[in-house]
Amino acid sequence: MSVRILGIESSCDETAAAIVADGREILSSVVASQVDIHRKYGGVVPELASREHLRHIVPVVREALEGAQVDLREVDAIGVTEGPGLVGSLLVGITYGKTLAESLGKPLVPVNHLEGHIHAVFLEAHRAAIEPSLPAVCLIVSGGHTVLYEVRSKDPRMGTAGALWSYRKIGQTRDDAAGEAYDKVSKLLGLGYPGGPILDRLAASAGDALPPVRFGPTKMKGNGYDFSFSGLKTAVLYHLRENPDYNPEIQARQASIARGERQFDQLLPLCSRKTLGLVREFQNAVVRDLVERTTRAADELRVPTILVSGGVAANRQLRTSFKDRSNALGLAVYFPSPALSTDNAAMIAAAAYPRLKNGILADLTLNASASLPLG
Ligand code: KG4
Ligand code: ZN
Repeated sequence: MSVRILGIESSCDETAAAIVADGREILSSVVASQVDIHRKYGGVVPELASREHLRHIVPVVREALEGAQVDLREVDAIGVTEGPGLVGSLLVGITYGKTLAESLGKPLVPVNHLEGHIHAVFLEAHRAAIEPSLPAVCLIVSGGHTVLYEVRSKDPRMGTAGALWSYRKIGQTRDDAAGEAYDKVSKLLGLGYPGGPILDRLAASAGDALPPVRFGPTKMKGNGYDFSFSGLKTAVLYHLRENPDYNPEIQARQASIARGERQFDQLLPLCSRKTLGLVREFQNAVVRDLVERTTRAADELRVPTILVSGGVAANRQLRTSFKDRSNALGLAVYFPSPALSTDNAAMIAAAAYPRLKNGILADLTLNASASLPLG
């Protein structure tokens, strides 16, 4: 009989629930996105996020159970995101998870959201009957995080689904997360929120448009595995300020977004070749930095596997570039599908499985932890 875990995720602006069997088989995964609520503010508004989680948590869990054709009483455990994230948002999922666990008499498993992102890679690989080997270097790159870990199994004799893993943080952003840089640059260009998906597609449409400016590699003292993206965002800002000829098209795009016309097909005709060249140059700089530091870490630590997860892992140029660079170095690189890259609860249920097996449980005193460390 398989072990079925109900995962609950509410750390940021997605209310999600999923049922996963034995830590690897997704029986259902439901995500209610709040992006339409936060869009007009250009970012996640914490108070609105918790209110939306309250509205969605019950129907989302119900839908996940129905999708998996599992009765609540048949669930073996409840895995819930403990942190890191927005406290008010986390508390909605935690409180609901505790209530279910207590009323059903089932174990409650606290999960670190970042550990969930790493498990998302394994969920995806499992679909293709692949099991990435550990140790690995893992890049988690999203709107809230850009961090590099070395991941090892605490029990290499067990399969990766059952064993606990250990984490060593080897680098992180010193300022903005990469997804945050995408969102800020998108705002500067009048391209709306979130910025990643639209900039990804516009960069791919740049064709032979020349870059109107060049962004060199970020130079930093100290840890060579750290990242920094705020300088790049500021360079885009200064370039736009120095070239007021961008203004009419920025205003035209802002007006388009205000009318609700925010699709790629609607925004592409409002972008000059110069803007497309700028977007691609920005993306080149972000991708180059992420790929360079991550592959160098794997190479120098003599670790054969790279795992990439989080919202920005959906970026097509990032994926291609990682594959090319890893092939050249003889490293294996794995990503989740775009749906598993962004926040979801299947990854939380998957991460809960080895913890359940190893008796790492929470009681009713479980609290939200806004900056819960991993490892
Ligand atoms: O993991 P996620 O859903 O939520 C956070 O934990 O932040 O990531 C969302 C972030 C946003 O900043 C969004 O702009 C970025 O991921 N993103 C992308 C792409 N899709 C989403 N960035 C670059 N390229 C994409 N295709
Ligand atoms: Zn996340």
